[in-house]
Amino acid sequence: MSRYWQSGPGDSPSDPRLRILLLGASGFVGGGLWRHLAARHEVVGTFANRAIPGLVQLDLRDERRLRALAADGFDLVIHAAGLVPLEAAEADPELAHRLNVRPVEVLLAAVRDSAAKLVFFSSDNVFDGSRHQYTEDDLRSPVNVYGRTKTAAEDLLLADGGHLVVRIPLVFGRGPWANSFLARLAGPTTPARTDLVCAPVYLPSLGPALAELWARTGVVHFGGRDVVTRFELMSKVQQALDLPTRVVAARGEEAASRCRRPPRLVLRSTRHRLLGPGLDAALAHLAGRSPA
Ligand SMILES: NC(=O)c1ccc[n+]([C@@H]2O[C@H](COP(=O)([O-])OP(=O)(O)OC[C@H]3O[C@@H](n4cnc5c(N)ncnc54)[C@H](OP(=O)(O)O)[C@@H]3O)[C@@H](O)[C@H]2O)c1
Repeated sequence: MSRYWQSGPGDSPSDPRLRILLLGASGFVGGGLWRHLAARHEVVGTFANRAIPGLVQLDLRDERRLRALAADGFDLVIHAAGLVPLEAAEADPELAHRLNVRPVEVLLAAVRDSAAKLVFFSSDNVFDGSRHQYTEDDLRSPVNVYGRTKTAAEDLLLADGGHLVVRIPLVFGRGPWANSFLARLAGPTTPARTDLVCAPVYLPSLGPALAELWARTGVVHFGGRDVVTRFELMSKVQQALDLPTRVVAARGEEAASRCRRPPRLVLRSTRHRLLGPGLDAALAHLAGRSPA
C-alpha cells in the first residue's frame, strides 16, 4: 500500500527547507498541515480566537496586518483560514464574503511583487453535486453561500496566475487542537445523511499531498479513494474508535436548515495521480492500529 502520506517531500535532508506562512493553523485542516509542515520547514502559523502557543494572532479583517505579514519574505503563503461552517456562511453572506473572499484580494496585492506563491484551500462545494464525479476541468455551479464565496476567491487567485487552488472534500480525522470532524460524533446520537455521497480525505494525508502538489499552478483536486455516504463514513468512524454515540440514518436537510448541500461530491484529478488513503487504512491509523 502506498505510504506517501507517511513520508514525502521534506523528509530527505536534500529537500529544500521553505519559509511558510500558514493562515488558519489553529483550525482543523490547518492543524493537520501544521503537524506535517512545521517538522520540516520554517512555518509561521496563525490563529484568530483559539490561542495556541507558538502561533501568532491574526484577524483576516485587519488588512494592514494581513498585508504586512504576507509580504514578510515567505516562499509559500498557505491560506486555510476563513468561515467554514456552511450554515454560518448561509446565515451571514456578507461576513462570509469578508472572511472568505476579501482576504484573498489583500493577499494577492501583498505578494504581487515578491517571489511568494499563494496556496488557497478551496472546496468541493464549488460544484452542485449533479455529476458522478468532478475533475479540475468541470464547470463550477455552487448552490450555497459558502460555495459561492470559495468560487469568487478562486476566480481572484486564478486571474492573477502563478498561484495554486487546492480543492478538497470533507476531511476526517483527529486534529492536533481543532476537532470539527470528531465533534460531529460527540452527542449520544449522531444523525448522518444516507443521501449525501462523498469521497472524504484523511487529515494526515493532506500535508504530504500538498508538498507533492505545491509546485503546480492553477487548480488541483485532492480527493479520498473511497466513495461513501455520510452515514457509512460516520458509522465506520464510530466503530473504529468505539465512540459512545449511536449513528442514526437521516435523509434530507433538517427543517431548520436554510443551506442546500450538493448530493454527490467526488473529487478526481486529471492533473496528478495522488489520492488519499482508503477508508480502512485511514481508520486503522486513526484508531492507532497502524504505524504513525
Ligand atoms: N474541514 C473540511 O472538511 C473542509 C473541506 C473542504 C475545504 N475545507 C477548507 O479548508 C480550510 C480550513 O477549514 P477547517 O475545516 O480547518 O476550518 P476551521 O477548523 O473552522 O478553521 C478555520 C480557521 O480559520 C481561522 N479563522 C476564522 N475566522 C478568522 C478570522 N476572522 N481571522 C483569521 N482567521 C480566522 C480559525 O481561527 P481560530 O480557530 O483561531 O478562530 C481557524 O484557524 C477552509 O478554507 C475550508 O474551506 C475544509
